[in-house]
Amino acid sequence: MKLGVLTGGGDCPGLNAVIRAVVRKALQSNYEIIGIKEGWKGLLEKKYIKLDRESISGILHRGGTILGTSRTNIYKEKDGESTVIKNMLEAHIDAIVAIGGEDTLGVASKLFKAGVHVIGVPKTIDNDLNATDFTFGFDTAVNVATEAIDRLHTTAESHNRVMVVEVMGRHAGWIAVYSGIAGGADIILVPEKQYDIEEVCNILKKRHATGKSFSIVVASEGAVAKKSNNGKEGDMILQDQKLDSFGHVRLGGIGYMLAEEIEKRTGFETRATVLGHIQRGGTPTAFDRVLATRFGVFAAELVEKGQWGQMAALKGNEIVAVSLAEATGQLKTVDLELLKVAGTFFG
Ligand code: F6P
Repeated sequence: MKLGVLTGGGDCPGLNAVIRAVVRKALQSNYEIIGIKEGWKGLLEKKYIKLDRESISGILHRGGTILGTSRTNIYKEKDGESTVIKNMLEAHIDAIVAIGGEDTLGVASKLFKAGVHVIGVPKTIDNDLNATDFTFGFDTAVNVATEAIDRLHTTAESHNRVMVVEVMGRHAGWIAVYSGIAGGADIILVPEKQYDIEEVCNILKKRHATGKSFSIVVASEGAVAKKSNNGKEGDMILQDQKLDSFGHVRLGGIGYMLAEEIEKRTGFETRATVLGHIQRGGTPTAFDRVLATRFGVFAAELVEKGQWGQMAALKGNEIVAVSLAEATGQLKTVDLELLKVAGTFFG
């Protein structure tokens, strides 16, 4: 068996831990393993590297991905699918472990339907992939955001300011809700629930009228105001209008917009901090290293059993197999119960 491994989409702490686990487990079955560089792009362009015990040594704790990544969608390229299949045959690649989020695994799901032997591993700091309780990378991002909120707390208090923290989360507010609850945020704005700026300002005014002189507002980059029309990507605050090959725009800027509006409407001095890619970089937490390792070992076992078209998923504390179709059918958004818990502490 010759096994290919690739990482696609935005990078994420724990990718190297998965690669290491897949390789270590697959070596026990005497497989030949190659790394496909830069996600699906590497299969179109035949960019491969050998993966063996030596090449994966010392990477468990390292952020990023030794394979590189891209947001290439083979279905947007001319003859993308047939080129991938042809190149796999030519390189004698029997199966692929694809480590990615909704977009990368969406491609994997289509390739499986076209007859390719593929197994998925769920990755995204956004934690919005369906059919798994958690994706690896999310815990690290939450810890980074929580530490930032803790730090902003002390300076907010010293200066009697409102601090707006913009965190990642395109269609789901998992990072905002988890870091907001952990960091004691006074307001959390998420894509799942449209916000009313007047209401936000009233909550802050009430809080400041009852003795508090500072506040923390955590906002997902994809949060949408009520006046917009259904929270489509076009209604979000965008950095520019360009679309990537999966049709996504570049979000960013809601933090600055909110800070300006809040200061204007309440008179409270307000500052914005955009955490951006800091949430995605650097070393994974112990939780993410363990989850990534479990996913990687399980994915290699799925290869061994020939359970193609499946993805490793966390359900409770068990790692189980779910179909790629189920995992990529729809996004997993924050449930209302959790939003209710967060809302208990607003104001
Ligand atoms: O998909 C993960 C994610 O981090 C999103 O939260 C964010 O909107 C996007 O990637 C940013 O992508 P890029 O790295 O292309 O700027």
